[in-house]
Amino acid sequence: RAETGNDQNTYGLMTRPNKPFMIGIGGGTASGKSSVCAKIIDQLRYLDSNGRQVVIISQDAFYRDLNEDEKKKAIKGEFNFDHPDAFDYKRMLQTMKDLTASKPIMIPKYNYISCTKEENGVFLEQPDVIFVEGILTFYFKEIRDLFHMKLFVDTDADTRLARRVNRDVLRGRDLEHILNQYTSLVKPAFEEFCLPTKKYADVIIPRGADNTVAIELIVQHIQELLRPSKSEFFPDSKPLVIDYE
Ligand code: ADP
Ligand code: C5P
Ligand code: MG
Repeated sequence: RAETGNDQNTYGLMTRPNKPFMIGIGGGTASGKSSVCAKIIDQLRYLDSNGRQVVIISQDAFYRDLNEDEKKKAIKGEFNFDHPDAFDYKRMLQTMKDLTASKPIMIPKYNYISCTKEENGVFLEQPDVIFVEGILTFYFKEIRDLFHMKLFVDTDADTRLARRVNRDVLRGRDLEHILNQYTSLVKPAFEEFCLPTKKYADVIIPRGADNTVAIELIVQHIQELLRPSKSEFFPDSKPLVIDYE
């Protein structure tokens, strides 16, 4: 950031927002939430000349710690990671509130193999634009209400399962475990807890990252909202640093 001497001022003109712009991305497992975020951010970076700091936070960082019994279940694919109770909701809410208040925070890093999190994850210092993605991003009202824009990635369930199998095999799980967990826990929880949150979305993105038209429209809209002269997020923005080198 400009005031800390960060090299982002090579963009030439730097503005400082009053509060970060928060975008939530929900959708089923392996629907393409992370891929959609990455594409939006790529295009924003390409188009934005204000050098804003954009970050992605995954809801997975807020899985709660498991007790010994739950760890044994998790190893067998019998722990329900798709139920709202699997998350440390209070911690996620507090982190999001801190971000809204521009307080520096540490996001833990989740390990899918050990099903634990490392506290020493990613340190964030007042990002300007924050993407929060996860299966239950819109489930908890207090968290949902903090977003300025809500997107839901709507990808066919067979496609999602195929991608999930590939991904979980790479995470060292065997096929029987993956399919049992999917049919007995993931799919029912998707229908009970995730799918009903689609109604809260401002924009539904069919086919995820393949939907280039939707992604372009969303990028244009975000750019418009963040335009310094008209934005409530960047009101009357004054350049903090002007550096033409
Ligand atoms: P989510 O964040 O919803 O879990 P990801 O974006 O991580 O989904 O995608 C899950 C898996 O599917 C990843 O391995 C990713 O590379 C792959 N994937 C995502 N979108 C596509 C796509 N449009 N075409 C092919 N593979 C994709
Ligand atoms: O990236 P994605 O949205 O798919 O991440 C959420 C999924 O991760 C959930 O469907 C959950 O079943 C799975 N998960 C898992 N093992 C863990 C933690 C989450 O299979 N230890
Ligand atoms: Mg993911």
